[in-house]
Amino acid sequence: MAIRNIVYEGDPVLAKKCRPVTDFNPRLHQLLDDMKETLAKADGAGLAAPQVGVLRACAVVMLEDGSYMEIVNPTIEAASGTQEGPEGCLSVPGRFGIVMRPNKVKVRAQDRNGEFFEYEAEGFTARAFCHEIDHLGGHLFTELVTEYIDPDEYYAETEEQ
Ligand code: CO
Repeated sequence: MAIRNIVYEGDPVLAKKCRPVTDFNPRLHQLLDDMKETLAKADGAGLAAPQVGVLRACAVVMLEDGSYMEIVNPTIEAASGTQEGPEGCLSVPGRFGIVMRPNKVKVRAQDRNGEFFEYEAEGFTARAFCHEIDHLGGHLFTELVTEYIDPDEYYAETEEQ
C-alpha cells in the first residue's frame, strides 16, 4: 500500500467525469488499498479516485463504525428527506460550507471483485456517499454551498442549542 498525492481544487482532473471501472483486477485493488490508506492518513470521511488523479468511477466512504466501504461504479438508486449541514473536502482544504443533501440514500455499487450490492445510509454517511459520487461526475461540493462557515463556530453554536 502507498499514500497517494491528493489533488486540489483548480486541478482539471476534478472537473472531469470518470470512466466506469471494467476490469476488477489487481490494479484496481491496489488503487482502492492506496485510497483507504490515503484517506486514513488525511483523517477524512471519504475519498474519490479523481482526488488522487485517477478518472475511474470508484470511491471509499467511511461508515458510522469507522470502517471504510469501497464503492465501484456507484449510483444513487433512491433518496429521501433533506438535511442541511456543514461539508468539506480533502481537495478543498480549509473551506467548509453548508450544503443541502438527502437525509437517506440507497446506493447501488460493485465491490472490488465486481459483485453488485446495495447499501442504505442516512445522516452524515448519506452525505458522504452523495459527496463522493458527485466527485465521480466531476462535481465538487462548492457548487452546492449556500453559505461558507467556520466549522468551529458552527459546532459551538449547535452545541449551545
Ligand atoms: Co471531496
